[in-house]
Amino acid sequence: MKPIRVGLLGIGTVGAGTFNVLKRNQEEITRRAGRAIQITMVADLNTARAQEITGGACQVVNDANLVVTSPDVDIVIELIGGYGIAKDLVLKAIANGKHVVTANKALLATHGNEIFKAAQDKGVMIAFEAAVAGGIPIIKALREGLTANRIQWIAGIINGTTNFILSEMRDKGLDFATVLKEAQRLGYAEADPTFDIEGVDAAHKATIMSAIAYGVPVQFDKAHVEGISKLQATDIRYAEELGYRIKLLGITKRTDAGIELRVHPTLIPAKRLIANVEGAMNAVLVQGDAVGATLYYGKGAGSEPTASAVIADLVDITRLATADPEHRVPHLAFQPNAMADTPILPMSEITTSYYLRMHVADQPGVLADVTRILADSMISIDAMLQKEPAEGETHTDIIMLTHKTKEKNVEAAIKKIEALSTVMGQVTKLRLEELS
Ligand code: NDP
Ligand code: HSE
Repeated sequence: MKPIRVGLLGIGTVGAGTFNVLKRNQEEITRRAGRAIQITMVADLNTARAQEITGGACQVVNDANLVVTSPDVDIVIELIGGYGIAKDLVLKAIANGKHVVTANKALLATHGNEIFKAAQDKGVMIAFEAAVAGGIPIIKALREGLTANRIQWIAGIINGTTNFILSEMRDKGLDFATVLKEAQRLGYAEADPTFDIEGVDAAHKATIMSAIAYGVPVQFDKAHVEGISKLQATDIRYAEELGYRIKLLGITKRTDAGIELRVHPTLIPAKRLIANVEGAMNAVLVQGDAVGATLYYGKGAGSEPTASAVIADLVDITRLATADPEHRVPHLAFQPNAMADTPILPMSEITTSYYLRMHVADQPGVLADVTRILADSMISIDAMLQKEPAEGETHTDIIMLTHKTKEKNVEAAIKKIEALSTVMGQVTKLRLEELS
């Protein structure tokens, strides 16, 4: 059978990894796919670097439009990133009848509905395994392996850069800026690293998983997004004293009232496997009603780990390219005419446990005032830590862990606590998930 012809847009970190792995493992990949997969065209702004990587094995151009319109390309791989030119190119590739593989979570989380609809109408496939958790085949697991289940919740460490930063800061005592530079050097960080640090990248990925898990459209605009830039070393330390680790988690949960979709630093029990996922590693915990909890672990970023997922998509498409479009696996796991309109809940309506740290006067009655406010708001305390005031200090830290309650109850209680004359400054609130 003739090789399937692939056009690659962007031969940077992931593009170069894809080219190299495909070349290195081509014999085995062909045996799996049933025919050879050949990159015949590459578009990159830096054509000299592209020539150097490809070594004359394919045509190199600097105008990506030439690839998406070429009659000699069957599959387009988009590895440019962002939602500007990448969106135009993906839509143009679809309009020209090409199947598309992309690692671009930003694009799919924000414009996925339009892109999937265009692909559906044209009868082509959009594959995006690399868009969530890099090399971990989590899309395949959610869409196919767990298809019997009613998914109840997903919680994942799905941004390697922030996990790397949190791990290095804790273990080596390095400062934030130094570790971020290292993450950029290693190719983990996004072109704009604020996407990593402020939780946007993780929210893109959580949005995609949420859509696949519950059969709803992608709705990044409804996700709650909070990164690690405001996280304080004090809270990491106190959390450890209480038996918890702080991780940036992407969480999506199905509840009776709707779907929770949120990214924020989260306390998780130190004894959980996922709490021990360090460095740029990713892990996704999925709770299904039939299977129970399943955990997926691996490299969430980097050149060849991400290439592994890109090539898996290439093989899937190669196997299915001649299949009737109606009998392929739906892009978002559920048939397009069977999507649900379950609402994404506002943050005020989510239910979880909380870590509250307050700086209070070391005098009688303070604790009673705080606990009364919590009790009045129907918030029950699970654990408490009271620190000795430092030498010569009149104030000290109190840390409370609550049982599950609604976010709006906690917000109301915090306002009242902050109004007490014995409480200095703001109350620090972090969310806590037992993940049991
Ligand atoms: P890079 O920045 O390393 O690579 C992007 C490449 O695209 C560069 O070579 C760039 O050229 C080229 N490019 C930019 N604009 C154009 C254009 N108009 N036409 C042709 N080429 C262009 O990014 P990554 O490889 O890291 O990321 C690619 C995608 O994969 C992104 O969507 C990212 O989010 C995603 N991803 C990345 C992971 C990683 O570990 N890096 C992991 C999972 C997903 P130049 O350098 O000259 O600008
Ligand atoms: N910037 C992303 C991360 C790359 O750090 O996880 C993988 O999506």
